[in-house]
Amino acid sequence: MSPKNETIGIIGAGWVGLVTAACFAELGHRVIVLDVAPERIEQLKAGKVPIYEPGLTELLERNKERLSYTLEITDLTDDADFFFICVGTPPTYAGDADLSAVWAVIEKLPALEQRAIVVMKSTVPAGTGEKVRAALDARGLEHLGYASNPEFLAEGRAIDDFVHPDRIVVGSLEPADGERVGALYAGIDAPIVYCDVPSAEMIKLASNAFLATRISFINEIANVCEVTGADVEQVAEGMGLDRRIGPHFLHAGIGYGGSCFPKDVTALKQLAGNSGYHFQLLSSVIEVNELQKRRVIGKLEKHLGSLAGKTVAILGLTFKPDTNDMREAASIVLGSRLLAEGAVVRAWDPLAEPDSYLRGATICDSVLEAVTGADAAVIVTEWKELRELASETVRSAMRNPLIVDGRNLLDPDQVSAAGFAYECVGRPGHCSSASGPSRASEPQAE
Ligand code: NAD
Ligand code: UGA
Repeated sequence: MSPKNETIGIIGAGWVGLVTAACFAELGHRVIVLDVAPERIEQLKAGKVPIYEPGLTELLERNKERLSYTLEITDLTDDADFFFICVGTPPTYAGDADLSAVWAVIEKLPALEQRAIVVMKSTVPAGTGEKVRAALDARGLEHLGYASNPEFLAEGRAIDDFVHPDRIVVGSLEPADGERVGALYAGIDAPIVYCDVPSAEMIKLASNAFLATRISFINEIANVCEVTGADVEQVAEGMGLDRRIGPHFLHAGIGYGGSCFPKDVTALKQLAGNSGYHFQLLSSVIEVNELQKRRVIGKLEKHLGSLAGKTVAILGLTFKPDTNDMREAASIVLGSRLLAEGAVVRAWDPLAEPDSYLRGATICDSVLEAVTGADAAVIVTEWKELRELASETVRSAMRNPLIVDGRNLLDPDQVSAAGFAYECVGRPGHCSSASGPSRASEPQAE
């Protein structure tokens, strides 16, 4: 039997909403995308995609016959069998998830002729679904079903993650609703975990928190490697071969960023705290991550002394490569710290538009422009354009040839051979002074 094609309303045209829309359209469903931002909807109608995600423009274009965009909720509620909520859930000042956009959507849902299912794809605290159910019931909308279908895609590889997921999680209050949501994914080869709604919500939060914990763990191992002489890359490889551990998310660096790990780890910690449980481990995960971003300052000072008046090039501004997303990026913390120390900050990124981030920094159009006259260059994002950073051209453009590699992107031997002083993360045998005398003023003794 061929899978049934349904009409799906997607509410929120951000990373999750647009990728979900494009992929469901590719599976044969009709998809109507709603957003509250008029410019977003106008852009989409004109065939322009408001975010950078590899392959997304092509996928939306290929399926344009099955996709439409609107600002009017009635365009969805008249036709759709499913309402996928994909709006943002940013942190509040208290660290909880801000669910105001979610509630704004719920409050707009009218009574319908057909039985439709509200599907929560936004990341929300465990317990949210039950509150939404109660709110719908209180408004006489018992005929709307409710399911939790959290999203696990990572930016930069979001389409591949949707098409080849490790699992699909569907939590529902009514098993039949869960099965209808699961059936939308017909054609995708992945196990479907059917469970209750709070468990689905918790699977999402726990997965992000666990991945973040692995990163903070390997970053602490890297920091211990720096004082004991071990090499974190060799350590991670040796650990990862143990099948009980596995190789993923053991890449030491400058700390995790992005719109999700920082907010979701804090939201889970807050959720536990609000319920009377102190989630001690997550407090440490968060603290380790904050300190990791700041360790670069110490490495710069080791070579340059006081950073006041020194010029530092920040190379890469996004929280990881292949995205233009700067939310919670390590570059923001590092740039602010450098500016507070009185350093002159020059920054480059191939995609990010820093706008209000990094006020006071000079944004450069090329790597060469950013490093010209700099006392140090810091790799914050592992963009492929930076693989050849340790070149003669860069060395002669810099006032002082120092590279601080926050992602262990470069080959230490090549960097040293090219005459740079080099600092990386957890590879102490590879930290080195420049082959020539340092040209920066006030260098500190090592
Ligand atoms: P985003 O900020 O990129 O997009 C959210 C969109 O929702 C925006 O276009 C905004 O205008 C729109 N919106 C806000 N209020 C609205 C309303 N009342 N009605 C209609 N549209 C509205 O967010 P995102 O990165 O796509 O994340 C969405 C959710 O998915 C979050 O909960 C996030 O934690 C989760 N998530 C994100 C990712 C990711 O990689 N970005 C991955 C998995 C899960
Ligand atoms: C992450 C998860 O990987 C997705 O499964 C999840 O759906 C998503 O959050 C979400 O909930 O929004 P994303 O934030 O796009 O996806 O990016 P990741 O590739 O996970 O990287 C997150 C951060 O961790 C980046 O700053 C990255 O540089 C850092 N990281 C990652 C490390 O420092 N070391 C690693 O080994 C892996």
